Amino acid sequence: MFLKPRLSAPAKRRLRRTLAFRLTAAYSVAGLLLAVLATASLYVMLRAELDRSTELFLADKLHVLRTMLQERPDDEDGLREEIELESAARRYQQFYIRLLDEHGVPILTTPGMADQLNVTQLAGLTRNLSDRSITMMGNHGRPFRVASAAAPVGTPPGAIDTIQIAIDTSQEEALLARYRVWFWAILLVTSVLFPLVGYRIARQGIRPVEEIAATARRITSTNLRERIQAEGYPSELASLAGTFNEMLERLEESFERISRFSADIAHDLRTPVNNIRGEAEVALARPRTVDEYRDVLESSLEEAVRLSNLIGELLFLARAESPLKQVQRQKVDIGELLSTVREYYDATALGGGITLITAPNAPPITAELDRSLMLRAMSNLVSNAIVHTPPGGTVTLAAAADGEALRIEVADTGTGIPVEALPRVFDRFFRVDPSRSKASGGTGLGLAIVQSIMTLHGGTAEIASELGRGTTVTLRVHTAAKR
Ligand SMILES: Nc1ncnc2c1ncn2[C@@H]1O[C@H](COP(=O)(O)OP(=O)(O)OP(=O)(O)O)[C@@H](O)[C@H]1O
Ligand SMILES: [Mg+2]
Repeated sequence: MFLKPRLSAPAKRRLRRTLAFRLTAAYSVAGLLLAVLATASLYVMLRAELDRSTELFLADKLHVLRTMLQERPDDEDGLREEIELESAARRYQQFYIRLLDEHGVPILTTPGMADQLNVTQLAGLTRNLSDRSITMMGNHGRPFRVASAAAPVGTPPGAIDTIQIAIDTSQEEALLARYRVWFWAILLVTSVLFPLVGYRIARQGIRPVEEIAATARRITSTNLRERIQAEGYPSELASLAGTFNEMLERLEESFERISRFSADIAHDLRTPVNNIRGEAEVALARPRTVDEYRDVLESSLEEAVRLSNLIGELLFLARAESPLKQVQRQKVDIGELLSTVREYYDATALGGGITLITAPNAPPITAELDRSLMLRAMSNLVSNAIVHTPPGGTVTLAAAADGEALRIEVADTGTGIPVEALPRVFDRFFRVDPSRSKASGGTGLGLAIVQSIMTLHGGTAEIASELGRGTTVTLRVHTAAKR
C-alpha cells in the first residue's frame, strides 16, 4: 500500500514559496553544514593526533633499542628487560618486540607475541620500516601498528640485527569508533533540531509582516482609523510600519476632506435650487400679474446664474487637478496685467470708498504665464480684498522680479483673518464667517482656485494677515516656463 502524500502538489509549491519555508531551509542547510564541518574536522584531527603519538612511540622504542645494540651489545639483561619485561607491565596499549639476527632467527621475543601476531607475516616485512609503520591485523582480530628496522650491533658493527615492534592500537580504534557514533548522533539531532528552531525563528521574524498585511486587509474607506502597533518590531519593520501608518494618516485626511467637500457641494447646490423652487411654488399658488411673474423670473435667473457660476468653478477646480490640464503660456506684461485688473475693479472700489492702486514697475516685468488664468487669480484676490476692506481703506497691487522669480502681491488694509483660520483659507468652501460671506455671495472657492492656478504654473500662493490691520496674499512663480 502506498502512503498518500499529505500535501497536494500546488500546496507544496505554495509552501516552498513562503518566506518562512525558505528561511527555515537556509538555516537548516547552513546549520547542518556547520555541524558536519565541525565534527568531521575534529575527527580528522583526533585521528591524526592518535596516529602521530603511536608513530612517536614506535620511533622512540626503536631508537632506544638500536642505541643499546650499538653501544652495549653484550648487555643481554638490559635488552631482555626492554623487550620481555617492560611490555608485560603495561595494561593498555600492549606492545610486542622481537629481535632477529642476521639470518632472521629470533634472539629475543616479548612473551605472547606469537599468540597475538602472525609471525610468518612479520618475517616477510622489509627490514627498514622505521620511518613509516604499517597496520596489520592480529590473530584475535586486534589491529596492530608494526615497525621494523635494521640495527647494527656494536661499534664498528659486527652484524646487522632486525628489530620488529608491534603495538596494539585497538584502544585508539575503539575511541574513534565511539567518536563516529557521536558524530552520527549529533548529525541526527541537528538535522531534526535545526529545522524546528529555524522555523520558530522564521515565524517570529515574519509575524510583523503578517500583522501589517492583516491591518491592510481590515482597512476600508470607512475604517481608516486602523494603525499598526509597531512596538517591539525590529527597526526595519518598524520603519515600514511607520511609513504605512503615515500613508494611512494621509489617506484618512484626504478622505475626510473629500467627504467634507461633497457635503459642502451638496449644501451649496441645494440652496439656489430650493430658492428657485420655493419662488416658483409661491408664484404658482395663485394668479399673478405680469410684473410679479417678471420679478420671480428675474430672481430665478439670479439664482440660476449663481448656480451655474458655482458649477463652473467646481468644474474648473476638478479640471485643474487633472494631469492633462495644460497652461497656455504667453509673454505677459505684468504691469499691464495689474492695470487691467485695477480697471476692472475701479468702479466697485470707488463704490465701496476704497482706494485701489497699482505700484508702478520700472523697468517693466514680463513673464511667461497663462494670461487668462492669472487674470482670474488676481480678480479673485482683489474681489476678496475689496469685500473685506471698510470704506477709506486701500488695496494695493504690486509686482517685483528677482532674477527668474516673480512675486505678485495683493495687499489690503481690511479686517484681516484670525490666526487659527489662516491655514484653512485655501481649502475649498472654507469661509471665516459663513453667515456673513453668504450674504455677500461668497462660496469659499476663490482662494482654492487661486492656489490651483499657481500650482498649474509651478508656483505658490501664500497668505499673511493681521486682524484689524489687513491681509497680504503673495503669489510666487518663475518668469520663464520650466521645461
Ligand atoms: N483679503 C481678505 N481679508 C479678510 N479675509 C479674507 C480675505 N481674503 C479671503 N478672506 C477670508 O477667506 C475666506 C475664503 O476666501 P475665498 O476667496 O476662498 O472664498 P469667498 O471669498 O468666501 O468666496 P468666493 O471667492 O468663492 O466667492 C473668505 O470667506 C474670507 O473669510
Ligand atoms: Mg473670494
